[in-house]
Amino acid sequence: MAKIKVRNWNDFCPQQLFLFGTWKEDGTPDFGLFCWFSYIWTTEDDYGGEGLGVMACIGAEKLTKDLIRKNGVFSANLVTEELLPLADYYGTVSGRENPDKMQYSPTIEKGVVLDVPTIAESPVSMELQVIKEINLAEGSDVFLCKIVGETMKEELTDKNVPFIERYKTVKQVLCGGEERYVSSDGRDLGAWGDPMKELLEIDG
Ligand SMILES: Cc1cc2nc3c(=O)[nH]c(=O)nc-3n(C[C@H](O)[C@H](O)[C@H](O)COP(=O)(O)O)c2cc1C
Repeated sequence: MAKIKVRNWNDFCPQQLFLFGTWKEDGTPDFGLFCWFSYIWTTEDDYGGEGLGVMACIGAEKLTKDLIRKNGVFSANLVTEELLPLADYYGTVSGRENPDKMQYSPTIEKGVVLDVPTIAESPVSMELQVIKEINLAEGSDVFLCKIVGETMKEELTDKNVPFIERYKTVKQVLCGGEERYVSSDGRDLGAWGDPMKELLEIDG
């Protein structure tokens, strides 16, 4: 079957979702949901180690961007099916406009290397230091970052278990096309704005 020309978009090349964590000025955390995130290679620097880094595009002015600019550091926590209701809420509710956004909270931990809030329930948390900010368009900026620290659930590091078996236990969520969440094994997990209803219903 022939390929046809379509809108330039990423529907069938979805990204994994991450919750970016930053400290607010009062020492409490803020989390936002992000999918425009991928990997880059950086040279080694003062932090030593390998040069894996990330690029994160933040498409409009928002609290996460304010705090990344102010602090120069943030965390990226992999979103799983268990975390999806909370992640969907963090992606839908503006931190700038809702000072009580963090009334729903995961278990917050502190980074092992950087002073960033991380999420205990997330199986993979990266601690990121901004190297460079690039302005792309009005309100759209890319942050190039070095991964300075990373934590992972211990069982994921057990190489006695084949990689694919460990991978299947993670249950990460992809930001699929047409504004829907998709599981890593191909199940529909709802439209943006749906999973958070479970959280709000529990609250009554
Ligand atoms: C599925 C999903 C993916 C998102 N990905 C991004 C993204 O990659 N970049 C971005 O700027 N905003 C993204 N957002 C919007 C932010 O999560 C939203 O602006 C949120 O309010 C940010 O939190 P904050 O207001 O506390 O900074 C996404 C939202 C959803 C629902």
